[in-house]
Amino acid sequence: MNNRLIIFRQACYLFFMALVVACSSADPKQTVAEEGKPDILQYEEKIDSLISLMTLEEKVNMIHGVSSFTSGGVERLGIPELTMSDGPHGVRPEHGRDWTPDNAGNDSATYLPTGIALAATWNADLGYRFGEVLGNEAKARGKDVILGPGVNIIRTPLNGRNFEYLSEDPFLTSRMAVGYIKGVQDQGIAACVKHFAANNQEVKRSEVNVEMSERALREIYLPAFEAAVKEGNVLTVMGAYNKFRGQFATHHEYLVNEILKGEWGFKGVVMSDWGAVHNTMEGLLYGTDIEMGTDLLQMPNIDYSRFYMADTVVSVVRSGKVPESVVDEKVRRILRVMYATGMFDGRSKGAINTKEHQQLAQKVAEEAFVLLKNEGNILPLNKDKVKTIAVIGANATRLQAGGGGSSQVRAPYEITPLEGLKALAGNNIQIKFAPGFEVTKEGKANPALIRDAVAIAREADVVIYAGGWTHGYSDEWNGGTFDSEGADKPDLTMPFEQDQLIKAVLDANQNTVMVLFGGGAIDMSSWVGRANGILQVWYPGMEGGTALARTLFGEVNPSGKLPVTFPKKLEESPAHAIGEYPGDKDTVNVHYKEGVFVGYRYNDKYNVEPLFPFGHGLSYTTFEYNELEASENAGMVNIGMRVKNTGTVAGAEVIQLYVGKENSAVERPEKELKAFRKVFLNPGESKEVTLSVPVEDFRYFDETKNQWVLEQGSYKIQAGSSSRDIRQTVAVDLEDVKM
Ligand code: BGC
Repeated sequence: MNNRLIIFRQACYLFFMALVVACSSADPKQTVAEEGKPDILQYEEKIDSLISLMTLEEKVNMIHGVSSFTSGGVERLGIPELTMSDGPHGVRPEHGRDWTPDNAGNDSATYLPTGIALAATWNADLGYRFGEVLGNEAKARGKDVILGPGVNIIRTPLNGRNFEYLSEDPFLTSRMAVGYIKGVQDQGIAACVKHFAANNQEVKRSEVNVEMSERALREIYLPAFEAAVKEGNVLTVMGAYNKFRGQFATHHEYLVNEILKGEWGFKGVVMSDWGAVHNTMEGLLYGTDIEMGTDLLQMPNIDYSRFYMADTVVSVVRSGKVPESVVDEKVRRILRVMYATGMFDGRSKGAINTKEHQQLAQKVAEEAFVLLKNEGNILPLNKDKVKTIAVIGANATRLQAGGGGSSQVRAPYEITPLEGLKALAGNNIQIKFAPGFEVTKEGKANPALIRDAVAIAREADVVIYAGGWTHGYSDEWNGGTFDSEGADKPDLTMPFEQDQLIKAVLDANQNTVMVLFGGGAIDMSSWVGRANGILQVWYPGMEGGTALARTLFGEVNPSGKLPVTFPKKLEESPAHAIGEYPGDKDTVNVHYKEGVFVGYRYNDKYNVEPLFPFGHGLSYTTFEYNELEASENAGMVNIGMRVKNTGTVAGAEVIQLYVGKENSAVERPEKELKAFRKVFLNPGESKEVTLSVPVEDFRYFDETKNQWVLEQGSYKIQAGSSSRDIRQTVAVDLEDVKM
């Protein structure tokens, strides 16, 4: 950007800030009495008086990191440091003030199933309870902010952080995120929705410049953040590493100033991702409130006073380049979060590693598993008939809690698949184990291990294969290539040459159930037709093995649904088929050419049959849908139907409602998820279910008008058990509905 433009933009921004300050007392949202006033704005007078007592240096100390996970406080005035912790599926091990790990074992925490598993439950209540556990444990560990949820849209199945994220669909992501945030914040701890925005790959994450249409931004990539702010009242937002339309996302005029703080009225704190601030003036003027960071080169002797938003800020304010009010505004936001989370009044204590929290981890896992295939009802296993089980695959004994990068958790224990199966099977069933493959950097198949595996497979009544992805090989992150921060998967090929092993196992024993770990799809093409049972278990948390055994033996009926499309092959996923990934090698631009046709929206539009569709997931029972009807009333479309459990065991069905507009003025996805509900039904039981969709959710973003538009006319409402298993369709007319 040329200098004149920067100065002009800065002048506009300062004028805008002055207006905001001048108008704030006239803004009805901010002045109404207690009722309807967001909690976060209740403390403005106290904040004014605190700020008036602070020196510039004290203020500046608050807007940057002063240790690995704290930003500065002002001891003299009783303002504590703000203490943060990852997130998103457990309170992270302690990294000390200078990134020195606490290896004394005082920093364990409940290891919950990871984000994509949570989303696979399609149970928003569980989102809340998940957040509650995190908030409660964060509190017990003395944290003020938990760095989650991660809500970036799953654009490519290769993204190394998909396991932490939620879904390819903005609506599912929003619903789960809002529950999570409320759960955390009801504990008096701030959630931190991340990474704002368009952080959809790890390859060159700090360099890539994302280019996408305004419509894709509004319809696909922003809704979860918007819901987090407007419905979840999230207290903090983390800016992303990448650039967006040429500017770093963490300090971004359009994303942060105009949209987040302007349009959406966000009043909390925007913190940078660790090391994502690149410039003092941009950080100050384009919305970053706290600069956090890791300087890997200087570790453990990081000099925090050299951060962009540290000592330099004092100079630029003193020299008159930036008014002090810009710093005040950031301090104000930080103090709001401190007041809103009870940092000045004292909080209740919180508890860590409780039985209840561990039970919740198990419950989430049990609802998260997705039964992808169940030919000939290979599952559930019958305890009376099965006498020998061969458990094959390195994931049967591998601990996963510490993997993946910043989301690592030190679990006090982790029940592996093998342990879970042994505990449930009891003495009447003989269980043999062979790792079959090894998790090594070289990633090669080991013929001796394959031979051992085949030998036990041949003699077993049933084989349980535990493989798929893992958090890669060990390195200092205890992460590595797969499902880990800082790297994307190279492709979808099964790692460690598992295909060879699986082929040999299936040759030896047809009665094999494939249990797949990982943050999403994997290429199953070489064996999918031959495997009768396939169960997707993601990273299932500390009670994953228990949940797995209960599911395999039918004590739990699977009810998870895919929150992402599983393509037949990588080339058939939109970012790779028509978009760009990982972007131009020299300019590092990534054009999201697929626009709004992300995930199943692409499969529908381009008629591409997925391997397993978005929303897919089988059950040990069957469900029937009837009597679908829809009508509009006072800005809501109410959709009713009857759902019946037609099988012989109790189970839960996720009713999915998709909306589509025929004869639209613009190219719209054939169908888009607009509501869902998980319903528990006993055998033979039926329930009437009503779901409501606000009329505004039928809109599309019109790029020529730069606004949301509601098209008049008829819409198709489809109710189904997956995006490709539509059971009932009805039309609703929005002819005369005005917004
Ligand atoms: C990650 C964030 C994380 C932060 C602090 C960064 O590398 O991108 O998600 O919260 O580190 O650990």
